[in-house]
Amino acid sequence: MKKINIAIDGPAGAGKSTISKLLAKRLGYIHIDTGAMYRAIGLKVLSQNIKSDDVDKILEILNNTEIEVKLINGNQLVFLDGEDVTDKIREPNVSMYASDVSKIKEVRQRLVKIQQELAKQKGVIMDGRDIGTHVLPDAELKIFLTATPEERAKRRFLELKEKGYEVDYYELLDEIKQRDLNDMTREFAPLRVAEDAVVIDSTNLTIEEVLEKVLELFYKVI
Ligand code: C5P
Repeated sequence: MKKINIAIDGPAGAGKSTISKLLAKRLGYIHIDTGAMYRAIGLKVLSQNIKSDDVDKILEILNNTEIEVKLINGNQLVFLDGEDVTDKIREPNVSMYASDVSKIKEVRQRLVKIQQELAKQKGVIMDGRDIGTHVLPDAELKIFLTATPEERAKRRFLELKEKGYEVDYYELLDEIKQRDLNDMTREFAPLRVAEDAVVIDSTNLTIEEVLEKVLELFYKVI
């Protein structure tokens, strides 16, 4: 069977990663989580005590930053300057930094290059905010996965709580709304539904139901 590329975009907490991982397993495809790369830059900015709106400083450190993505047994590992930061980038305080650095055009250009390189071989499910519109405009299947901010904040809350983090639902809701706004209003490659994308609202759907819908679309394309 021929291999295609699948773009899965949408706002924070819509379930993109969960669905992409399950889909990758089902299809024997590779899953690439592009948010992890923005998180790695955000982590570097945070750990160097740089303000997330200090663009000059961020550009300066970008030139001295090495980001590497390795796929091991279907799991994506992210290396920042040679250090495995796969777990660290998931800490709740990294999210807002990732969102802020992702506004910077040069940051995006640098990461998009890596992403396009990874997708060359096909058989890739890439999730993010600008995959269908900008990174892989020729992806054969494009999904825009969304849910209400309240539902997304609830999912984030449960996910972080399970990992042992002390988080506040209302703070997460505010953060999600702020990140949505950042993503939708940035000048360069904002979050938008690609013209040829299929929108799936997962607010009232289970993970299995979303997966079924995506698989149905996949078999129509293939
Ligand atoms: O997907 P995740 O929430 O881990 O992404 C972290 C941040 O990275 C998002 O809030 C978003 O601003 C940014 N991002 C982006 N473009 C992508 C993926 C993520 O701007 N393709």
